[in-house]
Order: sequence, then C-alpha cells, then structure tokens
Amino acid sequence: MKNIDSYTHTRGESVYLDDIPVVAGTLYAACFDSPVAHGKIINLDLHAAENSPGVVRVLTHKDITGINQIGGIIPDEELFAEYHVHFCGMPVALVIAETEYQARAAVKKIKIEIEPLPIITDPREAAEKGELIVPPRTFKIGECDTTWDQCDHIFVGRADTNGQEHLYIETQGAYAIPGEQGVVKIYSSTQSPTAVQRAVSKVTGLAMHLLEVDVTRLGGGFGGKEDQANTWAALCALATHILKRPVKYSLSRMEDIRMTGKRHPYSSDFKIGLNKDLKIIAYEVTFYQNAGASADLSPAVLERTLFHCTNTYFIPNVIATAYSCRTNLPPNTAFRGFGGPQGMFVIESAIAKAADELGIDADIIQQRNLLQTGDEFLYGQKVVSEAGECWNKAISLCNLEAAKKEVADFNLKNDQYKKGISVMPICFGISFTNTLMNQARALVHVYTDGSVVVSTGAIEMGQGVNTKILQVVAQVFSIDPSRVKVNSTNTYRIANTSPSAASATADLNGKATLVACSEILSRLKKVAADELKVEESVIELKDELVFTNGIKSGMNWEQLVLTTFAKRISLSEHGHYTTPGIHFDKVAGKGHPFAYHVYGTAITTVTVDCLRGIYEVDSVKLVHDFGSSMNRVIDIGQIEGGLVQGIGWMTLEEVVYDQEGRLRSNALSTYKVPDIYSVPKEIVIEFLDTQKDNLAIFRSKAVGEPPLMYGIGAFFALRNAIRSFNLLSKPAFDAPMTPEKLLLNLYPEKVDAIKRVAKSEEIRETEMEYTSPAAKVI
Ligand code: MTE
Ligand code: HPA
Ligand code: MOS
Repeated sequence: MKNIDSYTHTRGESVYLDDIPVVAGTLYAACFDSPVAHGKIINLDLHAAENSPGVVRVLTHKDITGINQIGGIIPDEELFAEYHVHFCGMPVALVIAETEYQARAAVKKIKIEIEPLPIITDPREAAEKGELIVPPRTFKIGECDTTWDQCDHIFVGRADTNGQEHLYIETQGAYAIPGEQGVVKIYSSTQSPTAVQRAVSKVTGLAMHLLEVDVTRLGGGFGGKEDQANTWAALCALATHILKRPVKYSLSRMEDIRMTGKRHPYSSDFKIGLNKDLKIIAYEVTFYQNAGASADLSPAVLERTLFHCTNTYFIPNVIATAYSCRTNLPPNTAFRGFGGPQGMFVIESAIAKAADELGIDADIIQQRNLLQTGDEFLYGQKVVSEAGECWNKAISLCNLEAAKKEVADFNLKNDQYKKGISVMPICFGISFTNTLMNQARALVHVYTDGSVVVSTGAIEMGQGVNTKILQVVAQVFSIDPSRVKVNSTNTYRIANTSPSAASATADLNGKATLVACSEILSRLKKVAADELKVEESVIELKDELVFTNGIKSGMNWEQLVLTTFAKRISLSEHGHYTTPGIHFDKVAGKGHPFAYHVYGTAITTVTVDCLRGIYEVDSVKLVHDFGSSMNRVIDIGQIEGGLVQGIGWMTLEEVVYDQEGRLRSNALSTYKVPDIYSVPKEIVIEFLDTQKDNLAIFRSKAVGEPPLMYGIGAFFALRNAIRSFNLLSKPAFDAPMTPEKLLLNLYPEKVDAIKRVAKSEEIRETEMEYTSPAAKVI
C-alpha cells in the first residue's frame, strides 16, 4: 500500500503548521536571542522594540506566569535567559506584533549588554573543568583490566564525529489560540505533544487539562522536534495566555539553525585488544559527548551510545565510560540513532585501526566477531542475532571477493582515481531505553456507516506511521483502507503520549491500535454469532463479509456494524499497549532494555578523484533485517532516506562553531547537505525476510533509525580509497570526511611540508619582531 499522504503531498495540499488558516486577530512572535555564548546580562534595552510599529508586547522572563524552566530530563534549562546567557541563540525576549515582518523588525531594535564569561566549546575541555551534565556513566562486561595481558595485538586511538543539523524541511514553530475558560489550543510541529503540553503547563502555570496540543503532521523531525519543539510552543502559549490572542511563530531557516541544537558531536578514546585469531577480547572506550549548554535529552542519548558501543560484535570484556559535557553551544538533542551512531563509529574506527596496523582488510576482523544468538550484550541482554545472515547475504549479494578484486584492479590501472570499499554491519536496539516510555494508546471509533476513525499518540513526520496504523485497522477488520481515516494527534483524544521516536512509533501505537480494534472485533463477532446462531469461534470477517466456517453468511460489514449499534453495544475502544518483558537497572547497567534488535549489513563502494579530493558513492548494496515488512514501499523509503542522511553526516555536513561559540555554518550556503549528486549511483536493498516471532507490529520490524548507520560505511570506504592512493596516509578517524579533509589526507607529506614552511616562516616573523626596525626593512 502506498503512503496515504502521497496524494496530497505531491499536489501540495498537505497541511503543515504554516498552512493552518489563521484566525482573525492572530499576532506574530519573533525571538531575540543571545548574540554571545556566555555572559552576564548587564542591561536589556527593549524600549525601541516596544515602540516599533505594530508591536503589541515584548515578553521576557519577568512575564512568565509559571516557572522559567523547560528542562525535560533535568530542570536546568531556562526558557528565557534571566541573569546569564549560556549559548548564542538562547532566547532572551519575545516580540509580539501584528505582522511577522513587524515582529522581526522590532527584534533588530533590541539592545543587550553582556559581560563576557569564559566560553567552552570543546567537550574534553569541559570534562577537564568538571563541567558535566550528569555524573559519568559506565557499562561493563567481563574484566578488561586482566585481559590486556592475553591480547596478541593492542591498538589505541581517538575518534571524532561532528554534529549534524536536522534540516527538517518544515522549520520549528507553534500556533497558540485562546479558548473558553482559559484553555489554550496549541498547534505545534512536535514529535511529542505531551512534552509540549508539560512544558507549556510549567511555563504558563496552567494545568495540563487546559492545554490542547494538536498535530496533523510534521515536515520532518529526525529527533529535532522530540524535545526542542517545546520552546516555541511555550513561547507562543505564554503570549496567548497573557494577551488572550492567537499567537503564531514559524521560525525562519536561519533562526532555526542558529537557535536549535543538533546531533551531539563526540570525541572518544579507544583501546582494542585482539587475540591471534583476530577475536576482539577487550575493548575500552571513553566518550566525551558535547551536550551543549543544558541537558535536554543528552543523558538518554549518552546512555544509548553505551548500549551501542560494540555495534554488531560480541566482545567478552568491555569497559565503556561516557561523559556528558556542558559547553556553551545550543543544547544538542535527539537525532536519528540517538547516540547509537556515535558509539558505533568508534568501534568501527578501532577495528579499522587494527586492520591498518595488521595489514588486513577490516571485514576479516568484523566477520570474526559478529554477534551470535546466545551471546550477551554488554548490558546483559541475551542476543537473538540476524547478524550472520545479513552479513552472509550481503557478501554474496555484491560478491565481496570479486568486488574487492575489481577495486584492486581499478586502483592498479588508475593513478588519479582510486576506489574504496567497506562493509558496515549494524545492530540497533528497539524500545525507548527508558522503560516507562514504552507505552501507547489508540482510540478507535467505528461509525454506523462502517467507516472508522483512529487516533493514536503517533506523529506522522514523513516516516509513514499513519499508513501503517491505517493498515492495522483495515487488516484487523478486513475492510477496505478507504473506510479508515487516521485523525490528527491530539492530547484531548490521546493522553500522556511518549514522543514519536526511538523507531518504536509504529510498534507501540500500531499495537495499541491492534488492541483497540481486536476488542471491537470480538464484540462484532459475538453479535454476528448471536444473529447467525452459531459459535463465535466459527465467525470470520473477510473482505467486508461475515463468514461462518469459511462460508459466506449473507451478512456484510455495514450490516454487522449497524446491528451491533442497534443492540446498544459500543463501537468505540481505547486501546492501551505496553511492551512486555523489558526492564533495565540503570545503576547496575544490566537488564533487558530492548524488545528486539534490528540487523543489517551494507557494502559501500566509492571513487575518489585524487587530484581534486572529490568523490562519488558508486554503490551501496545492503541486506536489511525487516522481520516481515508490512509495507515494503515505505520501508524502502526509510532505508534510502536514512542511508543518504548517514552518508551526509559522515562525508559532507560540517557544523562549525567558532571559538566564540558562534555558528559559522548557519545557512545552506555554508552547510552542505546531501543532494541528488551525493546519493549513491546504485542502491540495492535486499530484504532479510524472516518469519520468526518478534515484538514488532505484525512482525514488521522498526525501520526508522537503523539505516542511518549504513552511512558510516561511506567514511571507511573513502578512507580505504585514500590508503590505496597513499599507503603512508593514516587518515584520522575524524568525521565528516569532507572533500577538503580528504584532499589533505591524500597528501599528508605535502601537508606536513607546508606546515613546516609555515612554522619556519612564523618563527622567522617572530624573530624579525625582535630585530631592529632597519632589519625589518631589509
Ligand atoms: N523519516 C522521515 N521521513 N522523517 C523523519 O522525521 N525521523 C526518523 C525516522 N525516519 C524521520 C524519518 C527518526 S529520528 C525516528 S526515531 C523515526 O523515523 C520515528 O518514526 P518511527 O518510530 O515511526 O520509525
Ligand atoms: N530513543 C529516542 N528517543 C528517546 C529515547 C530513546 O531511546 N529515550 C528517550 N527519548
Ligand atoms: Mo528519533 S532520534 O528517536 O526522533
């Protein structure tokens, strides 16, 4: 079944936040944010802004009717800066005006005086200075310390990954409308209506039942709207609560990029030990996470880094420590993979380093250490592995040996162009790592004409969850999909939602839908059995007809629904689902946190132009563990999108903050995202279809985040290409491998020579400064 949104999407009719028809009297907000990354506010001059044309009000922390606090996990985040600013882009004041233009024009007239304080942008520096968001976390299995002696090979190194801008097509925004009895209705571009409701409740002081949050869909979230939609909703709702007028704020692209957090950059140290059979027997890793100025979701992201720090490998002795480091950058947040990719990059770097030093291909080490069913993850969960199957199928899909030979032949024949190939296996745990979040609800109404409306806590953000939910309803009732409407996500219909995140949205909300529909179905079947005077167990609904013992009964869906209604039996149900069997002891770092894992293996081939430093991804051929896919078209879309987003993170996208904590890559002219030319020339996706039981909806495994991690393969393929051009080059494990960085890595000797010249010139210049003026003239 194709995505139910494709028709309105392609016609430009789909409604996003900025398409909602505005109510008469709507005002527009714009934020004045800190131009300085760290400092004490000495003076804030709002006078000119307040007197600017069209301005109705300028709000600051002083106007907050509740508390000035929006921290989700830890209460460490002010909505408006009060005495100090902690990052460039931190909201200080909000202008409310009659038009968008007037609001933004007035923002420019606000003057602020800030006494600067020291700025930290580097996580290692923050850790050194004790600037930690939460105490360090450690996950451990076996005994690393006593194992190093048994290792035949030990390698140490460092790996760095940069941030990533979410670049959802629809920017952040909210629209708040006052209602009767103090109610505020909030349209928000959020992955988490309940998080918005809670944040607004705290800031306004209004109880949650006075706040209705409604979401039709997002033009992408990618984690960026799991927590960070709260700010804009809180700002608009506060203004609406105070002014009793509708207030809307849809951020411009530059406001959005400047003020919101991104994927967490990480800097990490690793030590890996192998025995002579190339089994990894010890792994020690320390992660420094760049959290930004406040916690946001960083502690949860940090935890997932630890969960995924051994990727798809069984390592009996591991000690992994992670620091969440406070810096003066916008708070970094969830981004597809939620810290997992950052952890996986480090183990892949460690393996690549070992392979370099041993003079072998990395895939030999990877393959020897793949997870097998019965192994144990470092957090105690028993492994049910599809790693080997995916790996083997991927190897034969692309005929790895032949492909490697082709690459080697090509490299022998070509001087300017070099190819590289890499294998990237993945393993990703499905479930929120915070066990209590693994719950969802669905509200299903069957109308008397046989049509059905379903509401859940799921947010449609392009990933196709609404289509999957519609499929669940249609399949359980065995009715035509056109009879089913998926309603907007609304906190008055579905309460206490978990964010649509962790790739678990279809599982959780789909299963809640399944619970609700199954309950209604059983009532319908009872009625049919009564009417047809047969046992309930012989009733079946198929293609909108009622069957008894497999024979058409003459009763159809519409008649059955009407009869049920006539008997005064409810045609509505509110279903509740919780993932069974999961638990995790955060102190011990052990448990069974994931419902299941998703596996896969991608083989990436690239071609590098060694004169220019530019490159192309020739092909990515992958085998992905879909379980038993309930919607192949949507799932393929998720694989393709995730893969390209991962390639972008690993090769192109460079978030640059200067030492003053100002974002230099603050627009699409300075921040390169993948375009059609960055898409691999060939993408082959093979389904590992398994009929094995799992906890996924209709056994169709979660697919949202895992494919991003295939993109890591592009980094290592490029690295291999560089090394076939110049074996002396030892490219740092420092992603992204941008064309500039790649060029420098191709010619390390030249770079060194240039550095030496530059250094000696610097020395000469310094020397000259101390000589006489006459000498300088010469
Ligand atoms: N796909 C699209 N088109 N847009 C998105 O915003 N978000 C990703 C992934 N795929 C996203 C997407 C992220 S970060 C997650 S967690 C999952 O979708 C969330 O949806 P799911 O739980 O239904 O997979
Ligand atoms: N994944 C994504 N989002 C989350 C998680 C998680 O594990 N926990 C809290 N928010
Ligand atoms: Mo996705 S990072 O869990 O929103």
